[in-house]
Amino acid sequence: MTTTTTAITNIPSLVTNDPALGEGPLGLVEDAALVLEGETVAWVGPAAKAPQADETYDAEGRAAIPGFVDSHSHLLFAGDRTKEFNARMEGRPYEAGGIRTTVAATRAATDAELEANVTHYLREALLQGTTTFETKSGYGLTTEDESRALRIAARHTDEVTFLGAHIVSPDLADDPAAYVALVTGEMLDACAPHARWVDVFCEKGAFDGDQARAILTAGKAKGLHPRVHANQLSYGPGVQLAVELDAASADHCTHLTDADVDALANSGTVATLLPGAEFSTRAEWPDARRLLDAGATVALSTDCNPGSSFTSSVPFCIALAVRDMGMTPDEALWAATAGGAAALRRTDVGRLTPGARADLALLDAPSHVHLAYRPGVPLVSGVWRRGTRVR
Ligand code: NIG
Ligand code: FE
Repeated sequence: MTTTTTAITNIPSLVTNDPALGEGPLGLVEDAALVLEGETVAWVGPAAKAPQADETYDAEGRAAIPGFVDSHSHLLFAGDRTKEFNARMEGRPYEAGGIRTTVAATRAATDAELEANVTHYLREALLQGTTTFETKSGYGLTTEDESRALRIAARHTDEVTFLGAHIVSPDLADDPAAYVALVTGEMLDACAPHARWVDVFCEKGAFDGDQARAILTAGKAKGLHPRVHANQLSYGPGVQLAVELDAASADHCTHLTDADVDALANSGTVATLLPGAEFSTRAEWPDARRLLDAGATVALSTDCNPGSSFTSSVPFCIALAVRDMGMTPDEALWAATAGGAAALRRTDVGRLTPGARADLALLDAPSHVHLAYRPGVPLVSGVWRRGTRVR
């Protein structure tokens, strides 16, 4: 059986993320074409050299980029935190404890409601160009509620993260040690079969360094790979712990010492920055420039959740990162595609190179720079996922 090939032509600027295929770190090809074969990219290069294909799609002068890889979201939730957002915009601070509101709503929701919610937000993200998504539990905090969240998540993505250690469950608020024992015992046993990753919110008001180490180590012993919510609201041990345990990613990285930056730069742990959270909590921005100049690998993701960052838009995060975190448009685009893939230890996504997954977005713009140059404008106007056009 032969697979149909589709050539996408008339692309003024195409980001491959492979320096061998084009200009600069983005491997930019001008006047480009792309050939898809089934679910993968078969060929990419200058249009003049494009091979014949069975079908042709005219991009009509739109730029092409790899589909976004959103390596950090919390989509297994129910309810809404509009009141809390309003209170923050009146000057109240963001605190980890707000998570309890969503825990109560999530526990009360039916499976069908959770399924409908995650389907809705993943579709919203897909239509904005996100073709790979990670998502996590963390609003159940009982063995049953955490494992059901992960079972539902696993129907939608392979990148599922067990975050039973989001906060100490309100049921065991007086006995954090008992909650850590539950998370590392019965809850982990029930959750590990449905997840690829284990995560901990290492923060004042959530879990300290020793508790986080115990949870991540137990997760590792069950075959889960660590990632860490680290140094979001304050300085702390999260980043060093992530590096020590070879976590794929330390996420947030808002409050970093020089030693934290050095540790990230000399490790295989990606610094995943989540500017939607700083936007929505009116907090200080993470310093992407400092991390990049030190040689760290930086990813950009949405952190989509109803509390601290209720956006599914990677383009919005790119615009914030360029405006407020010292990134160039090229660096931000790389971070939201190849960077996200690195944070998930994936090489098949986040790039448009022969053999990669045929995941891409077309922009109503001549180049990817417009994602930051024209903030807030819905530029993503075409999306292919696994070789199928979904928008
Ligand atoms: O990544 N930091 C911890 N967890 C989420 C917030 C969750 C919430 O407020 O509901 C975050 O920002
Ligand atoms: Fe998060």
